[in-house]
Amino acid sequence: MGAPGIRAVACASTGDTSAALAAYAAAAGVPTMVFLPAGKISNAQLSQPVSNGSIVLSLDTDFDGCMQIVKEVTADQTIYLANSMNPLRIEGQKTISIEICQQLNWDLPDWLVIPGGNLGNVSALAAGLDLLKVSGITRKSPRILLAQSANANPMYLSYKDHYKFRSVAAQTTLASAIQIGNPVSYPRAVRALQAYGGVVDQASEQELSDAAAQADRHGLFNDPHTGVALAAMLKQVANGTITRDQSVVVISTAHGLKFQEFKSGYHAGTLPGVQGKYRNQIIRLPADASSVKTALDKVLV
Ligand SMILES: Cc1ncc(COP(=O)(O)O)c(C=O)c1O
Repeated sequence: MGAPGIRAVACASTGDTSAALAAYAAAAGVPTMVFLPAGKISNAQLSQPVSNGSIVLSLDTDFDGCMQIVKEVTADQTIYLANSMNPLRIEGQKTISIEICQQLNWDLPDWLVIPGGNLGNVSALAAGLDLLKVSGITRKSPRILLAQSANANPMYLSYKDHYKFRSVAAQTTLASAIQIGNPVSYPRAVRALQAYGGVVDQASEQELSDAAAQADRHGLFNDPHTGVALAAMLKQVANGTITRDQSVVVISTAHGLKFQEFKSGYHAGTLPGVQGKYRNQIIRLPADASSVKTALDKVLV
């Protein structure tokens, strides 16, 4: 272990933070423990910290409950809490802005769109933008659009109420990694939004599912959180806040393969409360060429 007296590094997670922490800590030989809400994260996410040898604690609560417990467990300072209330997480994650700038040939877009739950990501994004500014790499100051699930939307409600914060009981959402009602990085996120012309929008289950599927038709394979971001972007284009001449980067926070149940459920028509506008149903046929030709004649123009 690097720091004296630290026995392990821990986090509460809706899936991906624990996967990242477990992977990097395993590579560094640092013991980890992850606190996860039982039954609320995808199998693909769960299998990552298990494989990387983390102590995996699956608790009968939601993310906010896990957060509460991990704070209590790490209070004695011998276990480092790696969630975004501590600076290391944000410091590590702010490279997201630098990478975007680098990939755009050291330029920045007019808008950055990001899905938010615990609000560490958006805080890190702004910290990276600050760094780009002070280092003189770019003078451009993009606006940030933060996107939340309508089923877990404390930041959206706060934004609508002049940044007056009230936690909410997060309801089930397909965007399970942002099913958070009491985000620990709320104060940082408000500063980030105020510094970067922030707008906050929300997406229903229908909107996030359709937005992900619509973009998939262009060759992507979007997870539900990226769907939330895409849906928010479409709404802001529709209401004229984002104009057609502006450049936009949407931050895709996970790969669709981590949310197979979401992807296949959308096209099978089994997602609760979702009528997929971009459904693509699998055609089941007997194994003979004439049945195949007849079926193709019906679908090809
Ligand atoms: C896939 C995915 N998208 C979005 C987020 C939101 O990030 P934050 O909780 O920092 O707002 C997370 C957080 O873990 C995530 O796993």
